[in-house]
Amino acid sequence: MAVVLSSGSTTPIPLRAFPFCSSSSSSSSYSLRSIRVRERHPPLHLHLRLRVRGSATETEATTTTTQLDHDNNKNLKMWNQQEQQQLQKGIAEFYDDSSSLWENIWGDHMHHGFYDPNSDVSLSDHRSAQIRMIDEALRFSSLSEAKNVVDVGCGIGGSSRYIAAKFDAKCQGITLSPVQAQRANALASSQGLSPLVSFQVADALEQPFPDGQFDLVWSMESGEHMPDKQKFVSELARVAAPGGTIIIVTWCHRDLRPGEDSLQPWEQALLNKICNAFYLPAWCSTTDYVSLLESLSLQDIKAADWSQYVAPFWPAVIRSALTWKGLTSLLRTGWKTIRGALAMPLMIQGYQKGLIKFAIITCRKPPPAHVDGSASATT
Ligand SMILES: C[S@@+](CC[C@H](N)C(=O)[O-])C[C@H]1O[C@@H](n2cnc3c(N)ncnc32)[C@H](O)[C@@H]1O
Repeated sequence: MAVVLSSGSTTPIPLRAFPFCSSSSSSSSYSLRSIRVRERHPPLHLHLRLRVRGSATETEATTTTTQLDHDNNKNLKMWNQQEQQQLQKGIAEFYDDSSSLWENIWGDHMHHGFYDPNSDVSLSDHRSAQIRMIDEALRFSSLSEAKNVVDVGCGIGGSSRYIAAKFDAKCQGITLSPVQAQRANALASSQGLSPLVSFQVADALEQPFPDGQFDLVWSMESGEHMPDKQKFVSELARVAAPGGTIIIVTWCHRDLRPGEDSLQPWEQALLNKICNAFYLPAWCSTTDYVSLLESLSLQDIKAADWSQYVAPFWPAVIRSALTWKGLTSLLRTGWKTIRGALAMPLMIQGYQKGLIKFAIITCRKPPPAHVDGSASATT
């Protein structure tokens, strides 16, 4: 939304951060008269007094937002364009270089498996654990059918092809990696899914789709790469059809405890090393995601920590890298992939210390009637 709340000489606050602002308010603008904050820790409950520009009318609204905190929060900061382009180039090259190695050893799903806690698993169980991850995510969101799906950060398209076949759905995947998009299309074609499933190179933060197109918006382990989490979830919400489901499965850091305004220095240092190896920007928490979804007035927001269900994954990836096939392939793919492999024990450490959380967050875009209802609250 283009409209910006101007808070005097301080940072402008994008109006989309406020749930009461919806389509009907997009052509208006307001000046902020006062803010009263009810809670000291995010999410903040704000009481706002607004004046409609060019009029003497004042209006009041109460809202919950983390946007103000996010403006000052390093973890959710806006990256400048150059930083974003640099990051995207790194991500594209990382997946261009490493995807065929991964596919050779692990198959077409580039995400964690979902395992029973404490189960003893062998490599051959992993593909079914990765499929189970998809099924459990769909189940968590209570989704039993979909007709038009976008797979945001699609890898080589494993989720798209599985969901297309499961629901007889049309799926469109986007990735930053040209090698992945090409391979994903080739696999779809060889499996006879081409009319239903297609892939292209595109940025999740500027999706090449019109508003309201998809009844399922699927993001499996791509959110951690997004430098602007607010833009990311806004784009997911934008392309979702009214009543559509959004499923985000992603790596998060632990929630901050009351009184904390950042992670401990050792925690940040560990995450920084992982970021460097896997081309990740700064992380956020599950609560941050929930707050962002709330700020967009999305409904039925649910989140869970699935860390215990993914625990066998990284040890298994390391074991597979230490086989003859794994090692020789790794050495052939180059430094970026090797650096990623060297960081794998850090992921295990992060989970064990309770710093890294494997999170699922789902919600629904309100049907049109609800959008209209919230619009009337602005005036
Ligand atoms: C770990 S892989 C997950 C792949 C796939 N979802 C799966 O489960 O097999 C991360 C994917 O996110 C994609 N990605 C990262 N940042 C992106 C962005 N800004 N726009 C589109 N795709 C992005 C990468 O290109 C890669 O395909």
